[in-house]
Amino acid sequence: MRFDVVTLFPEMLRDAACHGVTGRAIENHIVDLLLWNPREYTHDRHRTVDDRPYGGGPGMVMKVGPLRDAIRAARIDSPLPAKTVYLSPQGRVLDQAAVARFAASPRLILVAGRYEGIDERLIEAEIDEEWSIGDYVLSGGELAALVLFDAVVRLLPGVLGHAESAAQDSHVAGLLDCPHYTRPEEIDGRKIPEILQSGNHEAIRRWRLKQSLGRTWLKRPDLLAKVRLDAEQAGLLGE
Ligand code: ADE
Repeated sequence: MRFDVVTLFPEMLRDAACHGVTGRAIENHIVDLLLWNPREYTHDRHRTVDDRPYGGGPGMVMKVGPLRDAIRAARIDSPLPAKTVYLSPQGRVLDQAAVARFAASPRLILVAGRYEGIDERLIEAEIDEEWSIGDYVLSGGELAALVLFDAVVRLLPGVLGHAESAAQDSHVAGLLDCPHYTRPEEIDGRKIPEILQSGNHEAIRRWRLKQSLGRTWLKRPDLLAKVRLDAEQAGLLGE
């Protein structure tokens, strides 16, 4: 899968993406990350990338020409079809189902805004979808683009090993993940749940599912209201 990110701060993405799971995915050529800086598409001596808002008021708006040219340069750089996604607090709030849909596409162009945002006409003309990573305001779209990138990349075939499989993650079945433990068996008087040493894989699977259900019920009841439980899950929740 190919990602193109249009950003005034390409180093933010380059530096953050090269670690751990996403770093390995790039090294193994499962994912390509290309960065496009609107500043490279300016034509004035000061390489201006912002401009004053029509109607006055505080703050600046990203200048249309360089941003549009950077988006278009990214788009024509590959024949792979791409959705162009603008990260903004006004977008739909990202969830695992949306992440999974993105992971099925061959290419995404992510546009990270700065300042007060981008010209509305650019959104109308160049952007296919607008997504938010939560109901709070960041200083720019870069961190949001990184969140989307990370969440998508870990779903791509070959990125996670069997042991760290994404199938087990929180939110995958609409539920939170079960608790995890490693050695030592006891820490400051706290022991691991006995069943995990029983060797009974079926009993462990059921225990983990029950933990997932219980934790979701306690910590995120809003998720339970949305999910369709299967017969086994409904039975365990009722126990
Ligand atoms: N840019 C600024 N805030 C944002 C948010 N919450 N989500 C996505 N992009 C943003």
